[in-house]
Amino acid sequence: MPDSLPTLPPALAALLARASVPPRQLGEPGPDAAALDRAVAAALRAPDHGGLRPWRFVLIAGPARVALGGLLAASLARRDAATPPERLELERAKPLRAPLVIAAGAVLRHDHKVPLWEQEATAAAGTMNLLNALDAQGYGAIWLSSAALGDPEVKRALGFAERDALLGWIYAGTPRGERPRPERADPAPHRRWWSGP
Ligand SMILES: Cc1cc2nc3c(=O)[nH]c(=O)nc-3n(C[C@H](O)[C@H](O)[C@H](O)COP(=O)(O)O)c2cc1C
Repeated sequence: MPDSLPTLPPALAALLARASVPPRQLGEPGPDAAALDRAVAAALRAPDHGGLRPWRFVLIAGPARVALGGLLAASLARRDAATPPERLELERAKPLRAPLVIAAGAVLRHDHKVPLWEQEATAAAGTMNLLNALDAQGYGAIWLSSAALGDPEVKRALGFAERDALLGWIYAGTPRGERPRPERADPAPHRRWWSGP
């Protein structure tokens, strides 16, 4: 696939190279405060219809990850009272897999003319910018989900209202060993020109 540019602009090269790093390959140190501030600042550059600024990133490190594990296990037990204890322990241990877990959320305006999906799209686009910014600064990260994201009690414990959205868990740290780098995907199946009906 020939590139029309002789050398890629660094920002584009970074976008093309970003890859998720699985939680178990994320070691210490987690992103430092300055790197996190830059990543959140990048999130705030996502397009934002109505200027509603829905992005909220809850940073969970150190012993707070143990508390998050407790929330996740309790949430699973509420959703399925028959969950075996070993499965609950697995859930409890999840946040300990990486130095930092970021709960990526959106404060939603249900009474606003900008539709909810657009507000969530703004929050998701911001989360993607945050992932790109962490990757570009040498950290590894991955966006994971779980049913706990929709649990009102989990939302409340993290400082969200029930009407808000939790979009995902971003696990972040320093990649252990060689970090995965993707093959550049063929864009052809994903784009086509339209010249009228
Ligand atoms: C909203 C969202 C939720 C995701 N949830 C999970 C998940 O729970 N488990 C998982 O293995 N991957 C999940 N993924 C996919 C990973 O973040 C990642 O994209 C995937 O492992 C492929 O790696 P790549 O980003 O390097 O292509 C999710 C992605 C998004 C956007």
